[in-house]
Amino acid sequence: MAKLRIALLPGDGIGRDVMDAARIVLEKIDLDAEYLEGEVGWELWKREGNPLPQRTIDLLKSTDCCLFGAITSKPKEEAEKELIPELQGKGYTYSSPIVALRQLFDLYINMRPCKAYPGNPLNYRDDIDLVVFRENTEGLYAGVEFYPLPDGVRRALETHPKMKRFADVPPDEIALTCRIITRRGAERIVRAAFEYAKKTGRKSVTIVEKPNVLRETSGLMVRTAREVAKDYPGIELSEANIDSMAMWLIKNPQDYSVLVTSNLFGDVISDLAGQLVGGLGFASSANIGDHYALFEPVHGSAPKYAGQYKVNPMAMLLTVSLMLEWLGKQEEAAKLERAIASVIKEGKVRTYDMGGSTSTLDVAREVARRL
Ligand code: NAI
Ligand code: MG
Repeated sequence: MAKLRIALLPGDGIGRDVMDAARIVLEKIDLDAEYLEGEVGWELWKREGNPLPQRTIDLLKSTDCCLFGAITSKPKEEAEKELIPELQGKGYTYSSPIVALRQLFDLYINMRPCKAYPGNPLNYRDDIDLVVFRENTEGLYAGVEFYPLPDGVRRALETHPKMKRFADVPPDEIALTCRIITRRGAERIVRAAFEYAKKTGRKSVTIVEKPNVLRETSGLMVRTAREVAKDYPGIELSEANIDSMAMWLIKNPQDYSVLVTSNLFGDVISDLAGQLVGGLGFASSANIGDHYALFEPVHGSAPKYAGQYKVNPMAMLLTVSLMLEWLGKQEEAAKLERAIASVIKEGKVRTYDMGGSTSTLDVAREVARRL
């Protein structure tokens, strides 16, 4: 078998700290793999006016998958101000590299496991074990946005009677973001959720939308889910509205197993669910397409902790376990998860968020030692 090629993109801030932790564990696991480091993020934006240069995209294209740390990103005006003087006023606009990568490689599944590991003092309850499947390429994050509102777009919108209310609003006082859901997009994310339930022996999938208000977009998601569910006898489909789901996840999180939803709802609900099992220090994620996958902890670059090796590497190490599983290294993935679980359970080696003072790298070393 050919050697695996894995791209490592540490990015900014604590993305670099937790990538160093991942390397400690990967070294111990000793896959037959070559690791290729690439550049992404804020520092590149400031220097080159592009946080995701073509050379990084080319690097990813030459690999089997990518492990990503975290990046810093800021709103439009601030981004422009931080460019080096030579690049200012030249029309560079910042856009999120992670959103771009998801779209470029068609990584339509965003999978976020939220599991309460026994002994974690940060667990909200100890019996939570759910997985969020978030559509990753469409919805409100499709990137189809307008400001000011162009004439042609306005005329098209005015074919809808509800647009009358906004007829007097000047174009530079109205902004538009389109929520785009395609039948194909809806079907493949719902199918991914059911396939996962089938593979892991889970008994229920909950579609989380808001079809009573977002009649067309959420409506399409729910109707598609009902159709797909017919292919999976024995797995129950339930339906919940996004707002009540936020409430139910606090009230009875142990009742849920697989949740499937569109892009923005999934972003919100997975942060909520992640907090129930220890917060950002434990939240792992996989961005998966048919031909490529990118694995990243859910947290960002946490600038105030950058370079201090203080933050919890568990989110990143659990992310590595997701990557191993996707690569077909089930045994290694399970072993890593067991090592992580045993460190958590023993409770001696803990970063600050868990009430300890162990460093990022020492936690990783302890996990590696148990492998
Ligand atoms: P953040 O996730 O970077 O940090 C928020 C807070 O959560 C931190 O201050 C820290 O208290 C805690 N935290 C995060 N990761 C932790 C860990 N591994 N262990 C222990 N505690 C941890 O989110 P924030 O502050 O909203 O954003 C900072 C920057 O990161 C921004 O520029 C933002 O745009 C970016 N970001 C990037 C993401 C990505 O790369 N995918 C995701 C989220 C934010
Ligand atoms: Mg998020």
